[in-house]
Amino acid sequence: LKVALLGYGTIGSGVFELIEKNNKIINENYGHNVEIVKILVNRLKKYKNDANFNLFTDQFEEIKSSKPDIIIETIGGILPAYDYITYFLSKGIPVITANKDLIAERGSELIILAKDNNTIISYEASVGGGIPILKPLQECLAGNEITSISAVINGTTNYILTQMYENNETYDKALENAQAMGFAESDPTSDVEGFDAIRKLAILSSIGYKKNIKWSDLPTQGISNITDLDIVYAKTENLKIKLMAYSQNIDGTVYGAVRPVFITLNSKYAQINNEYNAVILEGDSVGELMFTGKGAGKYPTASAILGDLIDIIQNKKRYPEGLYEEVSNLQHYYPNPSHYVVRFKVDEIDSLTSKLFNIFYEHGIKISRMQDQSVVYVQVFSENEKKLIDTLESIREEITCDYSHYIIYEK
Ligand SMILES: NC(=O)c1ccc[n+]([C@@H]2O[C@H](COP(=O)([O-])OP(=O)(O)OC[C@H]3O[C@@H](n4cnc5c(N)ncnc54)[C@H](OP(=O)(O)O)[C@@H]3O)[C@@H](O)[C@H]2O)c1
Repeated sequence: LKVALLGYGTIGSGVFELIEKNNKIINENYGHNVEIVKILVNRLKKYKNDANFNLFTDQFEEIKSSKPDIIIETIGGILPAYDYITYFLSKGIPVITANKDLIAERGSELIILAKDNNTIISYEASVGGGIPILKPLQECLAGNEITSISAVINGTTNYILTQMYENNETYDKALENAQAMGFAESDPTSDVEGFDAIRKLAILSSIGYKKNIKWSDLPTQGISNITDLDIVYAKTENLKIKLMAYSQNIDGTVYGAVRPVFITLNSKYAQINNEYNAVILEGDSVGELMFTGKGAGKYPTASAILGDLIDIIQNKKRYPEGLYEEVSNLQHYYPNPSHYVVRFKVDEIDSLTSKLFNIFYEHGIKISRMQDQSVVYVQVFSENEKKLIDTLESIREEITCDYSHYIIYEK
């Protein structure tokens, strides 16, 4: 089987190594010898001392003329990856990709193109790195209606928040460390502002709820507003902060968002630290399932790509379901009764606290003043998020203040 590799960075080189390492076993078990026939890169010169330099090219024409049976795309981004993938799918050649940006943006279109040409596009590696999550969702859990999906699904932000919590690092220092460790890219915007996580949530939710859910329609909040003081507050209250991707199917309408939340120390997410990811799925037949492991990195991600490759070798025509054309109705407020932490920044603390007591007295409000006297943390209960926001807005009409509110996620 002739494989062409598009991209030879962190993931592409990992795929190359894993194919070399496992080729004998693949041959013994599945009767095929996998040969990498060409590798497309951007800066050819970089590879001139590579032992396999004859395989490298910077010309897409050479990839075409190598007549591959399978394409593995690890370039990333929308263009030119989209052009290359559509070229091969329209020729009926299967494509494996780790490209979450492209799948979240144009996944439905690519699946339709694959189906029309009697081939497939597989993208297990695009969500959760090494964690097998899309295949279980599509295949093993086919006998379920998925009711909710929650996930700590971005390794960079989880690493930063863990370092701030465990080692008292500042946000900037933790981000710098994440970059030095290779978890964060030099431009970390997509990670820290939650865009990477929302794309993955949109892919998971589309498959889970069998509707088209566009990532750009979902509310997204990253961790760049989380302060050192928030971490101190979390510790004093036996809470932690996580960037949570959460969606829920409420009678055909989907709530989905990425946002920082406080979790209790009993939460299943409390031990998911640093670059680790976790996904909890809830199905009406199976109940709750938790998947956890390394959500990124060279070998974990390459491992997911090899899983897809083996499926294709076995001739499993697994059309990825779920990236449907029918667009889901969305709701933008967290629908469940919940406790919240509200962080107020205010000059007139005394008038704020008396106002808060008056409004929330029936809910057993808990107010903590931190050492920084302009910041007040409040824990309140609300039946739903919309009600809470209405109340907070009414406070803001009377008292000049800024507020941010965070769910206390107990699962
Ligand atoms: N890194 C992770 O942990 C991880 C985890 C899950 C999914 N992913 C996904 O995997 C994909 C690859 O990520 P990565 O970390 O391996 O990226 P990377 O290290 O930056 O590698 C990108 C590769 O693509 C090549 N490339 C870039 N632009 C090109 C172009 N216009 N034409 C041909 N080749 C081009 C680069 O060539 P040069 O080498 O010549 O520059 C490089 O070999 C992305 O979609 C990413 O989202 C990554």
